[in-house]
This record gives sequence, structure tokens and C-alpha cells, in this order.
Amino acid sequence: MDKLIIQGGSCIKGEIRISGSKNSALPILAATLLASDPIQICNLPHLNDITTMLALIRCMGVDVIVDEKMSVEINPNTIKELEAPYELVKTMRASILVLGPLLSRFGEARVSFPGGCAIGSRPVDIHLRGLEAMGAEIEVDGGYIHAKAPNGLKGAHFYMETVTVGGTENLLMAAVLAKGKTVLENAAREPEVVDLAECLVAMGAKIEGIGTDHLVIEGVEKLNGCTFSVMPDRIETGTYLVAAAATGGSVTLRDTRADILEVVLLKLEEAGAEITSGEDWIRLDMHGRRPKAVNLTTAPYPAFPTDMQAQFTAMNAVAEGTSTVTETIFENRLVQTHELNRMGANISLKGNTAVVTGVEKLKSAPVMASDLRASASLVIAGMVAEGDTVVDRIYHIDRGYECIEEKLQLLGVNIRRVPG
Ligand code: EPZ
Repeated sequence: MDKLIIQGGSCIKGEIRISGSKNSALPILAATLLASDPIQICNLPHLNDITTMLALIRCMGVDVIVDEKMSVEINPNTIKELEAPYELVKTMRASILVLGPLLSRFGEARVSFPGGCAIGSRPVDIHLRGLEAMGAEIEVDGGYIHAKAPNGLKGAHFYMETVTVGGTENLLMAAVLAKGKTVLENAAREPEVVDLAECLVAMGAKIEGIGTDHLVIEGVEKLNGCTFSVMPDRIETGTYLVAAAATGGSVTLRDTRADILEVVLLKLEEAGAEITSGEDWIRLDMHGRRPKAVNLTTAPYPAFPTDMQAQFTAMNAVAEGTSTVTETIFENRLVQTHELNRMGANISLKGNTAVVTGVEKLKSAPVMASDLRASASLVIAGMVAEGDTVVDRIYHIDRGYECIEEKLQLLGVNIRRVPG
């Protein structure tokens, strides 16, 4: 397995472009199956997860044309298979997002049951209950979800007892072609859900309440093709901002927006960063100062995002003062604190809260990534450690960060990939 070697004592300085959002591109690519004409999606990031989703769409017999800028044209009318096979789903849980579109457009779907992952059990019970409320017949057999709606789905009033991004996305995609009105209560409000809804509206869907926790969808007969550009990746944006804050540096990020990660920017200002932004850029400057420790609790948008927790925990590990980091979304997403402690951090766990006492410097050590954002936190820790840190199992990081070593090298970090 490939490894990343990061030389310590780095100080982020420079400017890079932010890629399209992985967590917006994945549901939007699934939504292309709903179109009755060819549809173009632009600004896709070059990531393993995107490649996997395109492979999944292709294995159903759907024509996919990819251009050199990673824009795609998808023609769902050539579909032959209504199945998402285990071989692909096991590598990417987000494959579950084809369930709603296949059921809604073609009346049937077979999707391998997505397993858990390092950060939690990741159930999909709310996805399935919502589809049943819309009239789907669902059985789970041999590790596969087999869903049928021979007479099409019908609108339903459905309350999600947990705020679920994927559940909201799947049910939204099911509702747009269902007969009648669907109301989704306690819906997720993440910017990626908004981006999906805006893409569906561009295809001709009728959706009200976009950006709120109360979505009202009037089913339509069919959805057209369109050309849609995916929003910037707010988590990639946040990750590079935190890396600059942790190293006392300064960074300018292009092709991104400040309005999709406001609470992250407020926390960075609390840590002592000076932040300025424009229509499509954000600049952070620490003026060489060590960050101050900041307390945080993850929760659904617009609260502090769980996908930024590991990165801030790494920054807190070398910040001035003591902080608490509470993870309320996933049951096992503080796992990277053990690797940080192996690098000399001073973190103790009390249930779902990490108490972090900042140290001046970490010490390099061989460490292992457990999930996508934990691996990013270990790269940040490597930048502020003495010596060379080797991060193993970096296939996690390749799922969510486009060209991470090239972008970090542009920002002055001495980082290299070593084939494993
Ligand atoms: C999406 O995952 C993101 N992935 C995750 O990003 C992100 O961490 C998460 O939302 C929360 O913001 C993509 O968008 C591809 P959830 P998702 O359903 O949809 C419980 C990354 O690093 N739940 O919002 O799977 C669940 O157990 C990834 O880019 C149920 O109980 O997350 C969790 O506690 C990691 N039943 C909570 O809801 C269900 O049917 C939130 O999960 C569904 C979810």
C-alpha cells in the first residue's frame, strides 16, 4: 500500500485551487439515472470515489463519456442492469445513493447492502423506511437490498428521526418522479444536499424548501438532461485552511466559497486566524502565530461538520491551551486520537469527547490512516512534527483529496508518496 512521507517543520504558504465537492458529485452522479435525456456534469474532482461511481453507472450499461477536464456526459437511456454489485459497493458505501433513482425511474433496484466502516456502523434503515413509505416493496436477501415499485412510487409524508445526509438525498431522488406530493421532515440541510436539489430542479424537478429541514416535492412525469457544475468541496477547503492554521502559515484558496463553511471559519478566527474572502476565494493568515485551542461539537449543518473534526483535533494537538472535541454524529470517529498520541499528543478520551492539551511540537512516527478525514489529520500532524512522519494506508486519502501531495508541495510542504 502506498505511503506518504511528510517532513516536519512545514509552514503552509501559497495559493491553490479547490476541486469540486466529492460529497455533492456522488449523489449528483446517481441522480443522472433519473434523466430521460443525456446529461452533463462538470467540475467533478479526480478522485477514486468518483471513478468508482462512474464504474458503477457504466456496469449498469449506461453510456458515460468523460472528457479531459473530468466533465462527464451520461445517457441513462442505455441502461441494461438495475443492480449495484457487491464488488463496487464494498469499496464505496455511497453506492447506496443509486437505490432511490433506480427505483423511482425504473421501478426496481438491487443494491448490495453497504457495510459499516472505521467510523461507524453506518445503517441505512431510514433510507429503506422512507422508500417503503413511498410504496416500495423491499427485501434484504443474500446481502442485497431488492426493492420493487412495479406501479411506481407514490408521494408520502415522511419524518426522518435522525438527520441523515444520504437518507435525505436518496428519498429526495425517489420523490422527484413519484406520483403526487412528498414531504420530507427533519431533512439534512448540508450544502451538498442543496447542490443535489438544485441539480434536480435544473432537470425539471419541483422542490420547495431547498436548504431547510422541510422539503416539499411535487412528482413530475420525467426529468430532462441539463448541464450542471458541482459546487466547490467545502471539506477540502476547510482541510487546507486548518493545515495553514496548524503550521502558523498563510494560504489563499481559489474556486471556493466562504458561505458553505461559515462555522469552520468562525472556529479558525477563534484559533487566531485572520480570514478574508471574496466571491470565489478564501484567504487565511496566522502571521506566524501558534493556533489557540478551540472547543468544538459536531452536529448536522449549519453546526460544526463532523468531516472537519479530525483536522481540528490535529490542530488542537499543537495549539496553545486545552480544548474539548465532542463527536456526536459517528460512534467511532475519534479513533485517530490514538495515532496522534503515538506522535506525542496529549489527548484523553471520555466517551465521545476528546480532551486535548496542546503541546509545542509532535514527534514523527509511523502512523496508519483509518478513514478519509483521519488520514488528512495525520498528514497535518506530520507537518507540525519533528522529523519525517510516514502515513500508511493512504488509499483512504485518495478517495477524498485530489492530488494532495501536488497541492501540498505547491504550498511549501515537503511531502512525497512512496509506493507500498
Ligand atoms: C454523508 O455520509 C457524508 N458522505 C459523510 O462524509 C459525512 O460524514 C456524513 O454525511 C455526515 O455529514 C457522503 O456524502 C458521501 P448520514 P452519510 O446518513 O450520508 C445515522 C466523508 O468523510 N443514520 O448523514 O452516510 C448514521 O449512523 C464522509 O466525506 C441512521 O441511523 O451520513 C449517522 O450516525 C464520511 N440511519 C448519522 O445518521 C440511516 O438510515 C448521520 O449519517 C442513515 C444514517
